[in-house]
Amino acid sequence: MIQESEYKKRRDTLGKKLSNNSIGVIFSAEYTTRSHDTQHPYRQNSNFYYLTGFKEDNAALVFIKKKKSVKTALFVQKKDELLELWTGERLGKKEAKKRFLVDMVYVNDDFKKRFKEFIKDKNSLYCDLNSKSGDVKKILKLTKNFEIKEDIIKLIRKMRLIKSLSEIELIKESVAITAKAHERAMKLDKRGKYEYELQAEIEHEFKKSAAYSDAYTSIVACGNSANTLHYIKNDQPLNDGELVLIDAGCEHNYYASDITRTIPIDGKFSQPQKELYNLVLETQLAVIDMIKPGVMRTHLQEAAEEMLTKGMIALGILKGDYKRLIKEKKHKKYYPHGIGHWMGIDVHDPAPYRDAKNREIPLKEGMVLTIEPGLYIDKNDKTVPKKYRGIGIRIEDDILVTREGCENLSSHIVKKVQEIEALANFYS
Ligand code: GLY
Ligand code: MN
Ligand code: MN
Repeated sequence: MIQESEYKKRRDTLGKKLSNNSIGVIFSAEYTTRSHDTQHPYRQNSNFYYLTGFKEDNAALVFIKKKKSVKTALFVQKKDELLELWTGERLGKKEAKKRFLVDMVYVNDDFKKRFKEFIKDKNSLYCDLNSKSGDVKKILKLTKNFEIKEDIIKLIRKMRLIKSLSEIELIKESVAITAKAHERAMKLDKRGKYEYELQAEIEHEFKKSAAYSDAYTSIVACGNSANTLHYIKNDQPLNDGELVLIDAGCEHNYYASDITRTIPIDGKFSQPQKELYNLVLETQLAVIDMIKPGVMRTHLQEAAEEMLTKGMIALGILKGDYKRLIKEKKHKKYYPHGIGHWMGIDVHDPAPYRDAKNREIPLKEGMVLTIEPGLYIDKNDKTVPKKYRGIGIRIEDDILVTREGCENLSSHIVKKVQEIEALANFYS
């Protein structure tokens, strides 16, 4: 759980970064239409949530910076008995004032009036120019002569790069639920079922554990479907003798997990599947072993590409001189994606990878990233030995960078061939 004092600390940190005599505004997310008059479940804007922990829509957070002092104002929806009957309780101004450690709380009907007061004697504005909120246009109109400063979102994203201890706890909780889901998938007798049935088993664990939902649409890809990197149709049969790639993670208390396991439908890896699988696994373990403060993600990427390329040469998938293959990026055909990404409130946490001078940011204690090498051999690729065709494998874990090295937050989700086979004890 994140205390109100931590949200306040984040607002204080951001407030200090704003220039003197400026205004900063960030809006809550809006509902999005699913079709006609139905809406997707509401999810708060990640940056707004990071600064407030407030889950309601129609809200705004304003920073008013005069000289060096910063005041914060939160705008909330007013109480409305009739609307609350339909859509649920609102916190309201009075309770919001009690809960949030902001300087002022107003109802959002007063936004324009208050905003006009705030901007007196100010000369610059920080706001999310990409926000879908219609209010952005309104505030830009009111601040026509203002200098539009560095996007406030950029400043928040930088702060989100390093996770606090309470954030790490929440990520661990999210991973723990996802671990149960993958374990359920491994134990399940999958023979004769469809990908969506397996997806339902996984998401059952998410929902059962009070997780908000999936942090991204689950990928349940059997056989050759796994070679489509973001396959989400999940409508094909689970065929005996094939592998299923499951890339699924829940979001719990607004923190994501992002885990991939690739497991045999009938509980046993074939020899060619095992050869490819172990190459990906050894690569993943070696890359995780390299993680410590000071290391660059690019080096992790290169190490993965080198290991996978050497392994593919040994298996007869790639032919030729190792250095030349790497130079000509021949491995990209079979391993086309990155080694991993930041993870936090968003599954692809949008914290920066490069600094203001475009230098790569080295790993630091408190960062959380995924490590997810893979190999994808299309069923129609005639240049590859037949036994490997139609197999797609990815193994993905969530890693915390620590002072000395790293902690694999999902290491308890089994991934060795023998461990996976032992869990799938339905085959005989
Ligand atoms: N689940 C998408 C990814 O692994 O990045
Ligand atoms: Mn990922
Ligand atoms: Mn993933």
